[in-house]
Amino acid sequence: MTSGDEPADDRSHSDHATVEPPEWFVEQANVSDPAVYDRFEREWPDCWREAASLLDWDEPFEGVLCGAEGPPFEWFPGGRLNASYNCIDRHLPERKNQLALVWEGHLGESRTYTYLELYREVNAFAAALRELGVGEDDVVTIYLPMVPELPVAMLACARLGVAHNVVFAGFSADALATRMERADSEYLVTCDGYYRRGSAVAQKNKADNARIAVEQDVSVVVLDRLGHDIHLGDDYVDYHDLLAAHEGAEVEPISRAAGDPLFRIYTSGTTGRPKAVTHTTGGYLAHVAWTSQAVLDIKPEDTYWCSADIGWITGHSYIVYGPLALGTTTVLYNGTPDHPEKDRLWELVEQYAVDVFYTAPTAVRAFMKWGKEHPAKHDLSSLRLLGTVGEPMDARAWEWYREHIGGGECPVVDTWWQTETGAILVSTLPGVDEMKPGVAGKPLPGVEATVVDRSGADVKPNEAGELVVTQPWPGMPRSLLDGTDWGVPPSDGEWRYRPEDSASMDGDGYVTFLGRIDDAINVAGRRFSTMELESTVAGVDGVAEAAVVGANHETTGTAIYAFVSPEDGYGKNGLRADIEGAIVEAIGGIARPEEIVFTPDLPKTRSGKVMRRLLTAVANDEDLGDTSALRNPEILGEIQSSTAGE
Ligand code: WTA
Repeated sequence: MTSGDEPADDRSHSDHATVEPPEWFVEQANVSDPAVYDRFEREWPDCWREAASLLDWDEPFEGVLCGAEGPPFEWFPGGRLNASYNCIDRHLPERKNQLALVWEGHLGESRTYTYLELYREVNAFAAALRELGVGEDDVVTIYLPMVPELPVAMLACARLGVAHNVVFAGFSADALATRMERADSEYLVTCDGYYRRGSAVAQKNKADNARIAVEQDVSVVVLDRLGHDIHLGDDYVDYHDLLAAHEGAEVEPISRAAGDPLFRIYTSGTTGRPKAVTHTTGGYLAHVAWTSQAVLDIKPEDTYWCSADIGWITGHSYIVYGPLALGTTTVLYNGTPDHPEKDRLWELVEQYAVDVFYTAPTAVRAFMKWGKEHPAKHDLSSLRLLGTVGEPMDARAWEWYREHIGGGECPVVDTWWQTETGAILVSTLPGVDEMKPGVAGKPLPGVEATVVDRSGADVKPNEAGELVVTQPWPGMPRSLLDGTDWGVPPSDGEWRYRPEDSASMDGDGYVTFLGRIDDAINVAGRRFSTMELESTVAGVDGVAEAAVVGANHETTGTAIYAFVSPEDGYGKNGLRADIEGAIVEAIGGIARPEEIVFTPDLPKTRSGKVMRRLLTAVANDEDLGDTSALRNPEILGEIQSSTAGE
């Protein structure tokens, strides 16, 4: 949707059923006092002390927030802490033999780490990184699939006070190279390969190509996953050799200021370039710990499972940092939900007696499509709370999730946040609020957000507009703290953050999300930049022009449609393969278009602008509305007939 469009979506009208949280849940919930909203509002920003108090600080902070009027902001000024200490060491006295990580790998392979075992491996790897030369201000890139060594490497960096830069393992060599180069990262932790759906992925080949592509010299640590004993050349070291050489080492956790970087991560932005986001040690960790406690209701004795990949922000915040900061057992799954069978996740929930399960709406829609018989085969009664994140969750999928996974009993939290926000900002509090299926929830206590029109004025309840966050929050990234990016001072001078999501808010303050207003396409809860996709397609020999839009998709929510006008003399079949190949190379297989539609021309205005709105309508098989601005209206009929024929 573009900012000019009125969303024709009946979700913006408030006629939602409500569901009360069950009493048994409220009684045991970490947060169950409805006064939390008033108290946080009254005491803002001091209320966030409660989040910071979930952490152990080496130096206490002198205040909660500096610069409340505008950037630069500083959360917990004067405070110093170490994230690895908070996620591991401080739990040892009480829970050294409790599981920290449960890992389920490829086909029956599994491994667990107690907090003590995690402590030992993180220390050994931190000592190894230090010996390789990693020091303050370095950035260590980690390019690993969902294996325990991924959180180990992250926590080892955190221990050294060094920023990590995790790149999703499914990204291509080009995508990895861009992310390493932009971070000026001279260290890479990767693996030889791994299995996905039963076939081996050659990860090291991709890493090698990226290493050649970047300007800086790169030292590479390679984890042997396939057992093929591949030859490692100069500047490559074996992960297990490193660990063996540093077994028993202890590395003093380096104290960092609250605002010092903990990690970098990239997201798609409004430009073609991936946008670097840097999260902080204190503000970020306090915010993820508090939301893990208040929204996901995590308790140390729980087994908690977030089925995201650590390569994305969801995994950073809610597989690694939040749950480990609270001292719980977090599950890592290196597999797909339907392999070997469609009941794989439920088999694991039963096996590990998972208490809290957090996934994406796209996954729920897939479960729904596969049928209720798959969860029905398993005892899911250990589940207490379900959550979703990443895209709007429609009421039907919400109800199905609660009924067939949650036994009709578990509260479901639909949590809204972004790579940039670091942690959840909008959700219901499951021990306090009634739920509205299809509606995310209210801004959390301590979070101020509203829905505005294009002039920046609040819209009426239930009217669509753009969500803006009007007060800083602890998990905000460096660029917002510094005021170098995205904080938009409107004409009246008040600071606001624009997440670029359209939304409406009902009379109770509940937010319904309606989609992105920028040029990002959200496929299965992952954001891709339209411009990045378009420039990749347009770069293929034989493509004269290309436009990429998101279209509704039953399972993934949105699917990528590429409309391509070829140069004379190029055949569709060859081009189709080249375009797919280019996208896989530039971004990765996850961005492969659902449809590539060939057309002699793209619909354009008289001034030559491609009208993506019309292409979106074609892709969705919707009414085209007003086409009078078009220079070449006849082209739409042709495009419609070629999509219908696909
Ligand atoms: C979308 C993922 C509706 C939204 C944590 C946001 C959602 C983008 C929800 C961020 C939700 C996330 N309801 N939409 N509960 N959660 N989104 O950076 O458009 O990968 O701006 O972070 O996903 O995606 P990102």
